Amino acid sequence: MATAVFRKPLDLAGHVVLVTGASSGIGRETSRLLAELGAHVILVGRNAERLRALRAGLPGDGHAEESFDLVADLGFIPEWMKRITQGNHPLTGLVHCAGVHAAVPLMGAKPQDCEKA
Ligand SMILES: NC(=O)c1ccc[n+]([C@@H]2O[C@H](COP(=O)([O-])OP(=O)(O)OC[C@H]3O[C@@H](n4cnc5c(N)ncnc54)[C@H](OP(=O)(O)O)[C@@H]3O)[C@@H](O)[C@H]2O)c1
Repeated sequence: MATAVFRKPLDLAGHVVLVTGASSGIGRETSRLLAELGAHVILVGRNAERLRALRAGLPGDGHAEESFDLVADLGFIPEWMKRITQGNHPLTGLVHCAGVHAAVPLMGAKPQDCEKA
């Protein structure tokens, strides 16, 4: 008689995925899902405390947190990415969830509002 075996819908064992915006919302839930599927997750956001708390609760091992401001430190991204990939295995995925909500009437929007996003 065949035995029913539960399999993960997707096995990400051995994968290293960088998630921006991991300290909140969509990025945080995506990070949890990736870790449940077996990936090593590199958590990125500005709030180091929230990244640390998330990492502590993730299943699996090999996760890392990287506190980084993707807007203020825009020019350092290439150097920062090189450091991350040297310290970890090569990235096999990137999920970009960082962003800000801004409910600003279009007529009143300033270029600075767009730059923050
Ligand atoms: N939720 C929705 O239903 C929905 C629908 C459509 C589109 N979106 C868009 O999807 C994006 C994420 O939405 P969300 O609901 O997950 O928002 P959220 O809960 O506010 O999360 C935003 C994430 O972006 C990070 N972040 C913001 N500015 C950053 C910066 N300069 N450098 C690094 N990280 C930065 C924040 O981390 P720190 O504060 O730690 O830096 C946080 O982790 C937003 O752009 C939103 O407009 C959301």
